[in-house]
Amino acid sequence: METALTIADLKERARRRVPKMFFDYADSGAWTESTYRANEADFARIRLRQRVLVDMTDRSLASEMAGQPVAMPLALSPTGLTGMQHADGEILAAQAAEAFGVPFCLSTMSVCSIESVAAATTKPFWFQLYVMRDRDFIERLIDRAKAAKCGALVLTLDLQILGQRHKDVRNGLSTPPKFTPKHIWQVATRPAWAFEMLGTKNRTFGNIVGHARNVGDISSLSAWTAEQFDPRLSWADVAWIKEKWGGKLILKGILDPEDARMAADTGADAIIVSNHGGRQLDGARSSISALPAIVEAVGDRIEVHMDGGVRSGQDVLKAVALGAKGAWIGRPFLYGLGAGGRAGVTRALEIIRHELDVSMALCGRRDIRTVDADIIDRAP
Ligand SMILES: Cc1cc2nc3c(=O)[nH]c(=O)nc-3n(C[C@H](O)[C@H](O)[C@H](O)COP(=O)(O)O)c2cc1C
Repeated sequence: METALTIADLKERARRRVPKMFFDYADSGAWTESTYRANEADFARIRLRQRVLVDMTDRSLASEMAGQPVAMPLALSPTGLTGMQHADGEILAAQAAEAFGVPFCLSTMSVCSIESVAAATTKPFWFQLYVMRDRDFIERLIDRAKAAKCGALVLTLDLQILGQRHKDVRNGLSTPPKFTPKHIWQVATRPAWAFEMLGTKNRTFGNIVGHARNVGDISSLSAWTAEQFDPRLSWADVAWIKEKWGGKLILKGILDPEDARMAADTGADAIIVSNHGGRQLDGARSSISALPAIVEAVGDRIEVHMDGGVRSGQDVLKAVALGAKGAWIGRPFLYGLGAGGRAGVTRALEIIRHELDVSMALCGRRDIRTVDADIIDRAP
């Protein structure tokens, strides 16, 4: 793994190791993918101020996110089907994050269940909740997250209905893969992946199958989402979920200052400025371009995080400089996982940590908690 120097290197390795339908599932955005591209492109447009002859000894990246100490201000975003990038993917990513000292957030739509991740880790991980029409199931899911001692609940607000990702439709994405010639070919040409997958029982949606009533075929994620996710989810629901959960609550998927104000009114602990990695509303602005106005609107009332397009430590530094208490990564850790399991996720975190540390120093700062908008070069 040491020869992978960038997140892009890990992405190319994942492309060669993971069956096409699952690699594409990660590397896709909604419709024209313009928001997916903008998330990365807008980071590249921001410039940092180079400072010289500043003491650069004794640097610290340690910080806090939602009250939890973190080795650097970075968390692993909740991603569905992570156990299809690599056998037992959620367990491996959670273990890598735990050893590194950053939060891992398990998706409702994970392959490994809350209980199996809890059994394989020693510290609390975070849990992401999608709200479905079946409220009994949601209450039981919250109870399971509590029983597993999850440290925060991340409530996703931007997926009441699913944005279309053309690659998934063309690939006929399903979990587990179907037995058509095309799908058999995709799996057969990735023998290491297939061999590892044979060694685990975790091959479907572990939080749902056997727990939700009247669940028939959920192999087709898009059809199942349309049928089960609650399109009437409202701010009133945030209140009962907050009450039922009773712990740290993070609201994910805020892109508009007006929504940010309403989110702050709920009394939640943090918000994540996010467009779901460009997978929902194509044509929405990038997360990093939305961040400053949201920090301006609510930064004194609620902790603000962001995700979408973070591909390097420089990006994390820019997000922190523009007011985020922490940044989250989805695809970078998925590429690491696909490329090399737990070691690949660790490598993704090492790459970002090294880039963040060196870039912070070259901006003349020694402590990530002192980084502010002053390190951004705004000159024309
Ligand atoms: C393959 C994939 C699956 C995802 N599944 C979920 C999910 O189950 N729940 C959720 O809240 N967000 C989900 N997201 C969105 C991520 O949590 C996060 O917002 C996004 O990946 C951040 O952008 P980045 O991938 O550019 O870092 C998913 C993203 C990807 C790439």
